[in-house]
Amino acid sequence: MIVPVNLGPESYTIVVEVGALAGVGQRLRALGVGRRAALVTDAAIRRLHGAVVARSLEEAGFASTVIEVPEGEAAKTLVVAEHCWDRLLTAGLDRTSTILGLGGGAIGDLAGFVAATYMRGMNFVTLPTTILAQVDASIGGKTAIDHPKAKNLIGAFHQPRLVIVDPEVVRTLPERDFRSGLAEIVKHGIVLEQSYFDEVARDAPALLGRQLDALERIIGGSCRLKASVIERDPEEKSDLRFALNYGHTIGHALEATTGYARWTHGEAVSLGIAAEARLARRIGLADEATVTSQEALLTRLGLPVRAQQVDVDGVLTAITHDKKARDGRVPFVLAPRLGQFRVVYDVAPTEVRAAVQDLVV
Ligand SMILES: NC(=O)c1ccc[n+]([C@@H]2O[C@H](COP(=O)([O-])OP(=O)(O)OC[C@H]3O[C@@H](n4cnc5c(N)ncnc54)[C@H](O)[C@@H]3O)[C@@H](O)[C@H]2O)c1
Ligand SMILES: [Zn+2]
Repeated sequence: MIVPVNLGPESYTIVVEVGALAGVGQRLRALGVGRRAALVTDAAIRRLHGAVVARSLEEAGFASTVIEVPEGEAAKTLVVAEHCWDRLLTAGLDRTSTILGLGGGAIGDLAGFVAATYMRGMNFVTLPTTILAQVDASIGGKTAIDHPKAKNLIGAFHQPRLVIVDPEVVRTLPERDFRSGLAEIVKHGIVLEQSYFDEVARDAPALLGRQLDALERIIGGSCRLKASVIERDPEEKSDLRFALNYGHTIGHALEATTGYARWTHGEAVSLGIAAEARLARRIGLADEATVTSQEALLTRLGLPVRAQQVDVDGVLTAITHDKKARDGRVPFVLAPRLGQFRVVYDVAPTEVRAAVQDLVV
């Protein structure tokens, strides 16, 4: 599946295809970029999926160098970015050259940030290898490194020239990370398109079995939905982009109060979806069936919708620190029914408390 992202002069395509990684060199050539390239990845991903990319670049006539960075969030630091700038300079890369980020969302964020800043911006291609990165992080042009005091604080918008999503690579993900990525997929269905939500429900067993045709179809559908939001709201100026925050207001608060250690991001989002679905029910926006169908799908995908021992006060305090808060009020994205969303600005704190409390078993 080819998903076009129409952003005027910054338009690009997302290629979602089993085996697509082997074609990266050819596709890069077709863009008419310079012959030098740098592949940013970590040691584990390099071992699993690096060779096919390196071979493809070589066969298409690119002189490429590999820059290995630490795994996960540890890649998103100024020291690592500086190391990358050094390596680019030593290898003689210029503004016509390309950085390819092969990895999860952390590698994509770092590689994109380096591409945005080196010589005031060079070509950037993402080769996402986690479900989260394939359906979420690699689409939208947001790049960043972390500040010791806040995640994603230092960054830039820098659109990729090309996104290559090879569903085959997610078969090597550990089970927990694999399932976690599915939370963003469910989120897209709930707030953006009921027929997609139904398709995910139908394909749930095949997805969990990591069958390639189901992965390609569902991951492709999610890329299409996220791209449609980006096209209509590229710089996060309208309510539309808020839609992608569904499950994240309470989800982020759950992560923050547990030191980002108890749940993966996707598990916290799943709990956040369950709580925000309940919240919509509590304020009379959604009916019971809308709530239960969301919980049922998350549960079938092995994601949590209830938790033991939640620090409800801590979660409520963390919510007031949400980046979207204005004058102490936090807007909530809620789903009146499947496939729809509404941004609600005046939810009573007592209702939020009750919705979080509902998570506790
Ligand atoms: N830019 C955006 O719009 C955006 C959106 C959402 C999240 N993010 C960022 O994404 C990051 C999280 O990304 P993530 O969840 O992809 O995790 P990650 O990038 O932190 O990677 C997690 C681990 O998975 C391993 N891994 C990756 N692909 C693998 C594969 N195919 N097989 C086996 N192991 C593999 C990596 O080596 C790493 O150890 C966070 O830093 C977050 O801020 C950015
Ligand atoms: Zn998320």
